[in-house]
Amino acid sequence: MKVLAVIAAAGLAGAAWGASAARVNLATDNTSLVLGLTNGTWTVLHYGARVADAADVAALDRPGFAPNRMGVRKSAAYSVYGADTLNGMNAFGGLAVQHADGTMSTELKGAAAAAEEMPDGRRRLVLEMTDAARSFHVTQHFVADPASDTVETWIEIRHEEKGPVRLLRMDTVALTLPNRERDVSVLSLTGHWASESQLSVSKVARGQSVRLTSRSGVRSAWNANPAWMAGFGPVTETAGRVVGCVLAWDGSSASEIARDPTDVIELRAGVETANGYYTLEPGRELVLPKAVLTYSEKGRGQVSRNFHRWARDRHLPHGHDLRDVLLNSWEGSRFAFTEKTLLDMMDHVRAMGGEMFVLDDGWFGSGEFARDDRNRATAGLGDWVCNPEKLPRGLAALADEAVARGLKFGLWFEPEMANTRSWLVERHRDWILSEPDRPLRGGRGGTQVVLDLANPAVRDNVSKQLADVVKATPNLSYVKWDANADFMNPGSPSLPRDRQGNLWFDYTAGYYDILGRLRRIRPDLVIQACASGGGHMSYGSLAYCDEFWVSDNTDAHDRVYMQWGAGMFYPACAQGAHVTASPNQRTKRTTPLKFRFDVAMTGRMGFELHPKDMTPEEVVFSRAAVADYKRIRPIVQQGDLYRLVSPYEEPRAALMYVSADKSRAVVFQLGLRYGLNHDEPLPLRLEGLDAARRYRVVEINRSGSLHVKIDGKTLRGDALMGHGVEILQRGDFDSAVLELTAVPDGE
Ligand code: DGJ
Repeated sequence: MKVLAVIAAAGLAGAAWGASAARVNLATDNTSLVLGLTNGTWTVLHYGARVADAADVAALDRPGFAPNRMGVRKSAAYSVYGADTLNGMNAFGGLAVQHADGTMSTELKGAAAAAEEMPDGRRRLVLEMTDAARSFHVTQHFVADPASDTVETWIEIRHEEKGPVRLLRMDTVALTLPNRERDVSVLSLTGHWASESQLSVSKVARGQSVRLTSRSGVRSAWNANPAWMAGFGPVTETAGRVVGCVLAWDGSSASEIARDPTDVIELRAGVETANGYYTLEPGRELVLPKAVLTYSEKGRGQVSRNFHRWARDRHLPHGHDLRDVLLNSWEGSRFAFTEKTLLDMMDHVRAMGGEMFVLDDGWFGSGEFARDDRNRATAGLGDWVCNPEKLPRGLAALADEAVARGLKFGLWFEPEMANTRSWLVERHRDWILSEPDRPLRGGRGGTQVVLDLANPAVRDNVSKQLADVVKATPNLSYVKWDANADFMNPGSPSLPRDRQGNLWFDYTAGYYDILGRLRRIRPDLVIQACASGGGHMSYGSLAYCDEFWVSDNTDAHDRVYMQWGAGMFYPACAQGAHVTASPNQRTKRTTPLKFRFDVAMTGRMGFELHPKDMTPEEVVFSRAAVADYKRIRPIVQQGDLYRLVSPYEEPRAALMYVSADKSRAVVFQLGLRYGLNHDEPLPLRLEGLDAARRYRVVEINRSGSLHVKIDGKTLRGDALMGHGVEILQRGDFDSAVLELTAVPDGE
């Protein structure tokens, strides 16, 4: 491997810096993370716009003290609780360890290291660090992807101390920035069931920190999605300095954007240990979850595009595959179905141009524990065998029926859970999370419990059951992985009493173990991560899964906000967005079918209703809408997202996707509430087009009269972007979609 820029410098100007140092410029196309080794500590010399020469930022680095010299932290690349300040003790830091001998602080010393070029063009840097006084080791990894301007980073911890150590904090990211900042803001996603991915933006005042934490153990993406953007100075969609961070972890996580009394900024993200510290045995290695950082000076929009590109190019299992238009059975039938119901659904969705049928909850369990319309959610979880009373011909036959109709077939599972009313729990009472001397709390249906995924025997059993179904159903193309509970009984029967704190990490590692095994037996499967909606919306799941279910709230009005939020960090191809019946089952809101389609078309579009309930006119409209979506889906699913008007600022949302070569684009205006003259939408200044090319503009997915006067016209990108396009809105939930196609010069 090629060794990139490493500058070993001796006797740098300013003797206070010490005698030896090494610097690494981990550059991407537009950013640089410059690290320097000074007196054994790896520090951040620069994280921001790309610089050519690491020595320049080293020369510009702050002299190491603020006017008040007390407690100024080093800009550590991995800030730990210990001697990490220039002149004292760092009481903060993302790693806090109680060592085997009881010592509470850690002092990491690193050795010089070099960045290497990987065969795929990325650049890797591995920093080895060891505590100055004991054999406690931390390895910090960085992988920079030039094209997406991202840096992946993760931490490995191991030790050979005389006994176990306690990890009281174990963050992946614990960066202290070299430049102080006085205008700091944080954007994050919060929500709960049926209200996922709501945007939250706040300022961080001096001496404050914003802490984002989610402690459910399972549906952790709800309370605080493990993703945030920190803005420095004024920040908009198109301007301003922004650091983005996502953590690939589905368990309890915490992030902190802290501004200390001297305006030093520390950014942290990692596994949350507030519910239990992790005990690490000597000789064992703990690999902490990966985080991904990105930076842009072009505002939040570019940060989102960087994450989307990284996800498609470097992270999602099939990031460049187009996703099928599917019909999921849940809202159309719930538990009340027979094989005939399902075959009817298949026929109907096929006739509308659908490409896949997914059978949701209710197909499994047997005897008194069958997950049928009588037991509903009270039984069956844990017993992944087809219910012969409901589906006498079995799953393979059902999948074959789908294939015979030209459809792919998908199936729902909830592998992390069981019902106490299941054969699994009857036989293995000790396989569920529970606490001695406390009554068992049941979740959904009163009987739902969480399996002890820290237990290898449980993981083997669940994996085998999944493998058996997958192998016996050769025509299975898609798995919906659901999870509908949190840690209600946070005790692991398989872990020793003094290791119960490990459950919070080991459970999630166990979840990934089972997902990984499923992936290995069928690498081609499309897998959806779902947890009562968006509870598994994280890049941890998305290392194994292709997409996530955004929310159980399928009301198109609410989805505008939720998908807007999710799109801050996650690409459209990963967002399951389904057209459902109106009035909506949850919110009772009535919206036009066209609006429901337009909103779903901004993500991975599908259906979730029984099409037999649609009118003939609706079926005709749907067939045309599916055809339109199939034509634009390469742009939506693989293109660059530009957010034009936020629904948080106006009673409409406007966004567009542009293909990588800028030859095609699709613009959505999703009108929410409508007011008279003063509320009429202002023109949309398009973005991301080629200013010098001409584009034919066609309004698609029409129902009624046109919303633009340029339908069918050919206009240059400079005018579309510089002057803007006025798209009419005539009432509540009135939406429009424009397809733009570059035409050869002279046409
Ligand atoms: C919760 C999911 O989010 C829904 O889509 C559906 O699969 C139900 N669970 C089924 O129980």
